[in-house]
Amino acid sequence: MRRYKKASDIKVGVIGYGGAFNMGKQHLEGCRKAGMSPFAVCEIDPSRLEVARSDYPGIETYGSLKDMLAQSEADLIIHITPHNLHYPLAAQCVKAGRHVVTEKPFVVTTAEADKLIALANKHDVMVSTYHNRHWDGWIMRAVDQIVNKKVIGEVFRVEAGMGGYGMPGDWWRTSKSISGGILYDWGVHLLEYALQVVRSEVVEVSGFAKTGYWAAKMPKNAPWKNDCNEDEATAIVRFKNGAMINLSITHLGSAPRPYQIAFYGTGGAYEINYSQGWTLRKPGRGKELVEKTGKHPASKGHLYYQNVADYLTGKDQLVITPEWARRPIHILDLANRSAQAGKALKAKYG
Ligand SMILES: NC(=O)c1ccc[n+]([C@@H]2O[C@H](COP(=O)([O-])OP(=O)(O)OC[C@H]3O[C@@H](n4cnc5c(N)ncnc54)[C@H](O)[C@@H]3O)[C@@H](O)[C@H]2O)c1
Repeated sequence: MRRYKKASDIKVGVIGYGGAFNMGKQHLEGCRKAGMSPFAVCEIDPSRLEVARSDYPGIETYGSLKDMLAQSEADLIIHITPHNLHYPLAAQCVKAGRHVVTEKPFVVTTAEADKLIALANKHDVMVSTYHNRHWDGWIMRAVDQIVNKKVIGEVFRVEAGMGGYGMPGDWWRTSKSISGGILYDWGVHLLEYALQVVRSEVVEVSGFAKTGYWAAKMPKNAPWKNDCNEDEATAIVRFKNGAMINLSITHLGSAPRPYQIAFYGTGGAYEINYSQGWTLRKPGRGKELVEKTGKHPASKGHLYYQNVADYLTGKDQLVITPEWARRPIHILDLANRSAQAGKALKAKYG
């Protein structure tokens, strides 16, 4: 694999400079802070290319990936596009010998993950996924407390979920064929958190989906009416050590959740509420449970690109390998197919 003498030798291009969260700038700034060089932007929306030019005067800009690959010397290409484009665009870049980072989710299906990993091996390039939330303060503390210090004993159940009650937004995230489904946005983050704590192989996944409620209420000409995500979807994951994850994302959530993710163990429970902090409940001397709460430590998402730069300059191992990024995708893919089949499906990858 091509390695670089120093991080600044790594020229970075992005595909997708969208306006929803201004992620293109976040990525290029992350790369710059890690010592790499923002170099090129590819966007099909000319107005967003204008924004990129004003953010980075002199940066190369392209209206198509074909042109970018033909004309640009970008070494590392970051994919910040709707989910269904991650695989086909990343595959083109890998075939052109470029290193690739996709935004989360890595890709949509296990088959796409397998093909992209095989291509990366064949062309000897790096493929990784921007799991910046791997370094969120709340999960780093939870891993330290639960995995290293074993404060809640043996973890046997993880409950994770987000969402509220209401019509899904009028954007591509609401399209099943573009997004992959309701579980693919925040669900992939929650699974990536949970997999850091449950250190066992996935055995099987059951998926459940409630569909059609919000689609029926959309106006006739609404773009996502006939291609709408589930109103609510659930993935229940069985692990070899007996533990389970129960992940649910909803647009029909009429009862507020007190936490986004909670870990239950033989010696207590550890809950994470993003805005309020962590809660640890453990048995006291009598029958009562003793509760401790605290604020989350600061997040260190910048370590993602620091690790990529260190990997490409031969100083460190890659943390978010494509095989790691495939794990939540495999679970989501199985959940999706299981919901359609109405039965649990065995995992191909633990
Ligand atoms: N890690 C995080 O915390 C985080 C936060 C927000 C979004 N995301 C992810 O970032 C990705 C993009 O989401 P977004 O909110 O920025 O969406 P967005 O709609 O704001 O931006 C997507 C951009 O891709 C462009 N695009 C589409 N097809 C293209 C093509 N063929 N070539 C070049 N550009 C093309 C669109 O014109 C658009 O500007 C998704 O994978 C999303 O899940 C991650």
